[in-house]
Amino acid sequence: MIAIDVHLDADAAATMAGDVRAGLCAYPKELAPKYFYDDRGSRLFEQITELPEYYPTRAERAILSERSAEILAAAGRPGTLVELGSGSAAKTRHLLDAMRDAAALETYVPVDISEEITQRTAADLVDEYPGLTVRGLVCDFEQHLERIPDGEGRRLIAFLGGTIGNLYPRQRHVFLERIAALLGPGDHLLLGTDLIKDPARLEAAYNDGAGVTAEFNKNVLEVLNRELGADFDLDAFEHVARFDAEAERMDIRLRSLADQEVRLDGLDLDVGFAAGEEMRTEISTKFTRERLESVYTGSGLELRGWFTDPAGDYALSLARPVPAA
Ligand SMILES: C[S@@+](CC[C@H](N)C(=O)[O-])C[C@H]1O[C@@H](n2cnc3c(N)ncnc32)[C@H](O)[C@@H]1O
Repeated sequence: MIAIDVHLDADAAATMAGDVRAGLCAYPKELAPKYFYDDRGSRLFEQITELPEYYPTRAERAILSERSAEILAAAGRPGTLVELGSGSAAKTRHLLDAMRDAAALETYVPVDISEEITQRTAADLVDEYPGLTVRGLVCDFEQHLERIPDGEGRRLIAFLGGTIGNLYPRQRHVFLERIAALLGPGDHLLLGTDLIKDPARLEAAYNDGAGVTAEFNKNVLEVLNRELGADFDLDAFEHVARFDAEAERMDIRLRSLADQEVRLDGLDLDVGFAAGEEMRTEISTKFTRERLESVYTGSGLELRGWFTDPAGDYALSLARPVPAA
C-alpha cells in the first residue's frame, strides 16, 4: 500500500524564487543545498555515495548492517520508520530488515524534496517488503515537518547521510527542537553525523577524481536555468570544496572563472560575478560526540545511544526528548 502526499505547490516555486533572489543579491552569494536535488541531482548524489573517496556512506552502511537490531532494541522496537531526506533509502534497508526480522515492521514514511526518487523508492520497497505500508511525503522538511503523519505505535525518525550537517547552527537548533516536539513518548530520533578527522581525508571526499561531486555542485545551476529561466554557463564556474577548521565544516562553493553577468528571466534579475568570486552552495558540518551532545541538550533532546563504524569515521546516535522533571 502506497500513499504519497506532495506538498510542493505554488508556494514551493515562490519560496525558491525568493530564496534564490535573496541568495544572489547577498554578499557573499549563496544558494541553499536543497536546490541540488532535482531528479538528476538525486541520481548524481547516488553516484557520489559509490565513490572511493566518499567514505561517509560506506561507514554509515557498515554501522547499519552490523547494528540495526541493537539500535532498534534500544529504540523500543518501533513499528514505524519515518525517514527525513530519504532519497533512495539504500542503507535504510538494513533497518527495515531488522524491523521485519523482529516482526515489528508496519509503516515506512519517506520524506524528501525530490518527488521522482520518493515515488521510485516507495514502489521498490512495497515489492521488497510484502505487507509494508508506505506513507510518503514530498516536501521541504524545514517547512513541513508537522505534516508527517502521526501513525500508530512507536516511531523511529531517522535522518541519515549526514544531512543535518547541511544546516547552519541556528537552523539546526530550530529543526531539532521541532523534531523533539514531534517525538511522542517512546519515540526516538536516529541521526547520522560525519565525525571530525584529518582535513585531507575530508577534502578528498568532496573533491573526487572522477569529478562527480563537481557535476553535482554545478547541477544547482542547471536547476536555476530550468526553473527560473536563467542562463548560467556551467563551464564558466568551477567546484571548490575546503575544510573550514574554525567552523568545523566543509565549505562547498562555485567559483566564477570570469567576469560575467547572468540573467534570470524568472526573477527579472541580472547578477554580476567577478572572476574568482565564490558562491557557497553547501556546508557539511563535522561533529564530535561532545559537540553533538551539547547540540542535543540545547534543543531539548538527550543522547541515548552512540554507534560508530570500526574506524570511528562516522556516528549514528539515538536521541529522545529530555523527560519532563
Ligand atoms: C545528502 S542526501 C542523503 C540521502 C540519503 N538519506 C542517504 O543517506 O544516502 C540528502 C537527501 O535529502 C533530501 N533533501 C535535501 N534537502 C531537503 C529538504 N529541505 N527537504 C526535504 N528533503 C531534502 C535530498 O533530496 C536527498 O535525498
